[in-house]
Amino acid sequence: MAAIRTMQLGQFLDSVDGRGCRLGVITLIAVLVISLTITRSWLRLKHIPGPPMSALTNWVRRSWVVTGDAHRIHTALHRKYGTVVRIGPNVVMVSQPQAIDTIYGFKTRLEKSEFYDSIMPRIKGGKLPDIFATRDEGIHRQMRKPVARFFSVTNLTTFEPAMTSTMDRFLSRLNDTFANRHETFDLFRWIQFFMFDVLGEVTFSRDLGCIEKGEDVNGIMANIWSYFGKVAANTQMPWLDYLWRDNPLAPQSTKSNPLAEFAFARIMERVESSDIDKQNATHNDFLSCFLREQAKDSTLPQLFVPTWVNSNIIAGADTTSILASATVYYLLKNPSSLAKLREEIKEAASHGRLSRCATWKESRELPYLDACVKEATRLHPPFALPFERIVPKEGMQVDGFFIPGGTRVGINPWAMQREASVFGADPDAWRPERWLCSEANQQQMYNSFLTFGAGHRSCLGRHLAYFEIYKLVASLLQHFEVSYRVYLESSNRY
Ligand code: HEM
Repeated sequence: MAAIRTMQLGQFLDSVDGRGCRLGVITLIAVLVISLTITRSWLRLKHIPGPPMSALTNWVRRSWVVTGDAHRIHTALHRKYGTVVRIGPNVVMVSQPQAIDTIYGFKTRLEKSEFYDSIMPRIKGGKLPDIFATRDEGIHRQMRKPVARFFSVTNLTTFEPAMTSTMDRFLSRLNDTFANRHETFDLFRWIQFFMFDVLGEVTFSRDLGCIEKGEDVNGIMANIWSYFGKVAANTQMPWLDYLWRDNPLAPQSTKSNPLAEFAFARIMERVESSDIDKQNATHNDFLSCFLREQAKDSTLPQLFVPTWVNSNIIAGADTTSILASATVYYLLKNPSSLAKLREEIKEAASHGRLSRCATWKESRELPYLDACVKEATRLHPPFALPFERIVPKEGMQVDGFFIPGGTRVGINPWAMQREASVFGADPDAWRPERWLCSEANQQQMYNSFLTFGAGHRSCLGRHLAYFEIYKLVASLLQHFEVSYRVYLESSNRY
């Protein structure tokens, strides 16, 4: 049938007189085909409200990400159009709390979309699947199952001494370098140094040297930041990667990857040691857990260990720094909350319920601290784009809208966690007191959280992140009076 059609088209073109005229006909046909495709795609989801231009092209949603403000734009769109909004020709964004289960639930297990292809690390021009970004459910299972238990609270408690000693060094450094000299400094930058060092400690029993040197050693932090900065926009139009990053004809980047080099050196030190079993036994860290797991199962690919350790830093360091900084930021911007929390911490310390470096258990027993961390987790999720999934072929129903199979669907935690139907009349306000309520009410709010994702692809490192944040905020405010200062930096925007 297709051959007959091609022949008829060929004969038709032959019968058209002159080259110019033939070109005109070809252009007309191309325009017709493109218009038909756009119209068909527009009609598929035309029952779903959204900005009219978004229904025609993904460039619009990509341009939102380029501004760095997509999370605010998405929230405004939900407030304008409702809980189900079309943000691309084939993309729908949702903010209905019940839809978390429909889209990310253990039962439905929807596949991740090509959004994640953009995030996937590349080596030697090829994609390197990791737990976070792989779209292959088989590979995901193989990668997640052997290591998941190492991220449990019970196992993390065995890593706590390493976290505490890094915190001790961190607090002493702040004391000696800044507090004793009454010097102003960028606390959020130092929180980042702390998080990278602590993750180095729990992963390799070796910090990255950021606290000691007071800098981003080997540019690891800058490298990760610029990587996410570059890939974020393409998650909205992943085919663009084929034009440059994945194009074999385009010049490949020769830049080194300082994190991968650091991780590889630590793995080699351990593997090349004459007695690897003894090394693993003396080091209580993720690397020894991962190496032991790999030794037990010869079917696990060799690349898994480097991928697991890299994921720890890439997925865990900046995200945890952002959430810890957000907690401190909101406290500084809200002096009454800060005063209340300081009082709680002072009280606990004076009654011997808080060590010099707060333990996880002690810090979890401070109800107002808990409320503040939860409120920051709600207001400032570090991943603030919809986590995209593919609607199964039978389609799905969300808040009264039918979303056909093949559509890309996702929820932006930033918008979801500002839903007035769950968080009350003041969803944009910092109000930790909203968490000082009955357990049932807390649970209802917490069920609408997506900061750490949900279902079988939810965050592996959530407990680790909370360990670091609770301990850090309780210890920092126990020893220092922190105050807020606004800096004006010259920029060429004015
Ligand atoms: C505040 C800190 C953190 C936040 C906000 C966060 C957030 C997230 C989110 C939203 C996802 C799921 C994304 C999706 O559905 O596509 C995720 C997955 C993941 N996170 Fe985290 N994360 C944090 C800290 C960490 C830490 C400390 C680690 C490890 C050391 C970690 C390791 C992972 C891994 C391995 C996955 C992939 C899980 C899977 O697909 O099975 N994260 N994280």
